[in-house]
Amino acid sequence: MVSRPHGGHLINRVATGRKRELLREEFKELPKLVVGDLIAVDAENIAHGIFSPLEGFMIREEFEFVLDDMRLPSDLPWTIPIVLDASEEEVKQFKPGDDIGILHTSGTPIAVVHVEEVYRYDKKEYAAKVFKTVDLAHPGVAKVFSLKEFLVGGPIDLIGEIPNPYERYTLRPIETRVLFEEKGWKTVVGFQTRNAPHLGHEFLQKTALAFVDGVFINPVIGKKKPGDFKDEVILAAYDTLIEHYYRKDTAVMSIWRFEMRYAGPREAIFHAIVRKNFGCTHFIVGRDHAGVGNYYKPYEAQEIFKEFPDLGVVPLFFREFFYCHRCGGVVHEKTCPHSESDRVRFSGTKIRNMILKGERPPPYFMRPEVVDVIMRWDNPFVE
Ligand code: ADX
Repeated sequence: MVSRPHGGHLINRVATGRKRELLREEFKELPKLVVGDLIAVDAENIAHGIFSPLEGFMIREEFEFVLDDMRLPSDLPWTIPIVLDASEEEVKQFKPGDDIGILHTSGTPIAVVHVEEVYRYDKKEYAAKVFKTVDLAHPGVAKVFSLKEFLVGGPIDLIGEIPNPYERYTLRPIETRVLFEEKGWKTVVGFQTRNAPHLGHEFLQKTALAFVDGVFINPVIGKKKPGDFKDEVILAAYDTLIEHYYRKDTAVMSIWRFEMRYAGPREAIFHAIVRKNFGCTHFIVGRDHAGVGNYYKPYEAQEIFKEFPDLGVVPLFFREFFYCHRCGGVVHEKTCPHSESDRVRFSGTKIRNMILKGERPPPYFMRPEVVDVIMRWDNPFVE
């Protein structure tokens, strides 16, 4: 048996068949909120049970509990607000009890929201509590400050999705759960990533495989910050890594469409919950998980797990992995007795700078086959 979904059962808010047709018809007449990719994919994540137990965008009580207690009113752990913003002009067109439509900027109808509540909120408080900073240089904070002044809460029915160029890499929780069962995996460790794999990433996964039956590699696909690898590069790099360096019966890769918030510790808990919903029993948390800049301490995303003994997914914590020339391998500070001058840290910035200069990262940094793939792009990084 793979893990139980967060809250007990998988939410399904995807309208199908006749219901979908009726809702799509109703949609045409509804007041609309026009949204970007972030909210369109959040709606998808809710509808497909990736955000179980959420059935819609948060009402005020949920939002405030999440900010203050890192839990939903039911006491279930939940650390990142999932909210739908609207302007004063927009909220004049509807009231609690009404249905409204979420329309993507491309013209794709996404969902019908059954409005329960419309409320004001404090952006500064939101940013300070979730990101522990109000510095606009933090990409998650900047996003919060760009939101409109009201939030709209209520359950949704999904009626459409924005185009997914990676459909063949996409599995929903309902599918991953069946797949893990079919493989006979009793224990599955989730691996979050927003990067093309270096040797540190590979060793995290393979070390975890000493304890569990399979690894679920689940790269985040969606808007990222400049300097991060492009989505297509991450996927091609992992395809190659898995082909050349993984046993076929130990790894499954599929994507998660989501926009990183870069909320460090809070996001680590959230990432674990999401992978629990995909069916993982364990979750890898390494150094500076989901961090950005120097806003979070290197192991803060591990320490926060102490506050969630009831998470329902077991975190596997790893110290920083690095390469040591004298050890001749990938090691960490508990296994390597040598000095700093013997060590090479897997720094994303270092890898990026080498690649941008046309230099190949050495084999103890990145697998040569992975480097070959990355080098196919003139610029493999988000601009
Ligand atoms: S993240 O934003 O998704 O966390 P990244 O894709 O680099 O960034 O990291 C994926 C996972 O690997 C995270 O759990 C992170 O903490 C971990 N990680 C990345 N590099 C290292 C390393 N050198 N040593 C230990 N853990 C690492």
